[in-house]
Amino acid sequence: MKRYVWLILIMMVITSCESVDNHIETQYQSTSFVLGFSQLGSESGWRIGNTASIKKASEDYGVDLIYLNAEQKYENQIKHLRRFIANQVDIIAFSPIVSTGWDNVLKEAKDAGIPVIITDRGITTVDESLYTTFIGSDFEAEGRKAANFLMDYYSETDKEIRIVELRGTDNSTPALGRSAGFRTILEENKNMEIVYSTDGDFMNARGKEIMKDILKSNLTFDVIYSHNDAMTYGAIVALEEAGLMPGMDVVIVSVDGEQESIELLKQGKINCVVECTPLIGNKLMEISSMILRGEAVPKEIYSNETVFTMWDDLTDLPERGY
Ligand code: AHR
Repeated sequence: MKRYVWLILIMMVITSCESVDNHIETQYQSTSFVLGFSQLGSESGWRIGNTASIKKASEDYGVDLIYLNAEQKYENQIKHLRRFIANQVDIIAFSPIVSTGWDNVLKEAKDAGIPVIITDRGITTVDESLYTTFIGSDFEAEGRKAANFLMDYYSETDKEIRIVELRGTDNSTPALGRSAGFRTILEENKNMEIVYSTDGDFMNARGKEIMKDILKSNLTFDVIYSHNDAMTYGAIVALEEAGLMPGMDVVIVSVDGEQESIELLKQGKINCVVECTPLIGNKLMEISSMILRGEAVPKEIYSNETVFTMWDDLTDLPERGY
């Protein structure tokens, strides 16, 4: 009888050990992490592509993504970040609509022990330790590339070149960087002058509205430098409605590189497209995993980007994916 009792006890211990092992195994296999991501809005095709890239990558990497869209409002992004902190997500990422005003909420995240990744647009802060890394584009380089195209395009002329600049959202790092980089190169050429520059908020409708107003005024200009494709499309419609030929009567330089802008480049309606890729989803998942594993990551991670011009053979260019 005693032997049976011992046997039963031994069997029970073995079974309970197995179930503990199984439990650990299951937990290990399903261990992912929770990423809270605050997108700034849906103002452009670029932005839609950026959101799609992040959502797709989170599925591919098995990451639990909490996605929130701030609908172009800074206050909403602050609320999102506070919600992520309250929910104790593993890691936070966000694309800040403007560059300033983030220190307090980032301090709250830091105090809660939650690492933060800044994506796409950058921030200005007194304390760089408030975020772990930035993943995105070099906006000043984009501005320089845009101006360098004009230097090449007008290399044979010494007539005065008059430029209209459609800027992105005020106080956003792409607008600041694209303006600054562009001006750095322009300073080298005294024949080029920015005769009008205004905030078009990265929106198609604003690009069209601004261009209509300019065309109604007496302002003469040779070039439109547009900080993004969406505003460029709007400006092109306004030019065509006024009977002008974009790309011929007005030289157009656009930033982003959406599929549609590449088609317009091929048609001769845009002269130069400076690439800014929104496809950073995979990088975001990889870097998030590294941070959560305690590995060191660079403070700034820039995408490799190029320039497409009217002189390039674009026949074999792969689909852009945004
Ligand atoms: O922050 C990146 C910029 O934001 C893109 O150039 C633009 O299309 C978007 O709205």
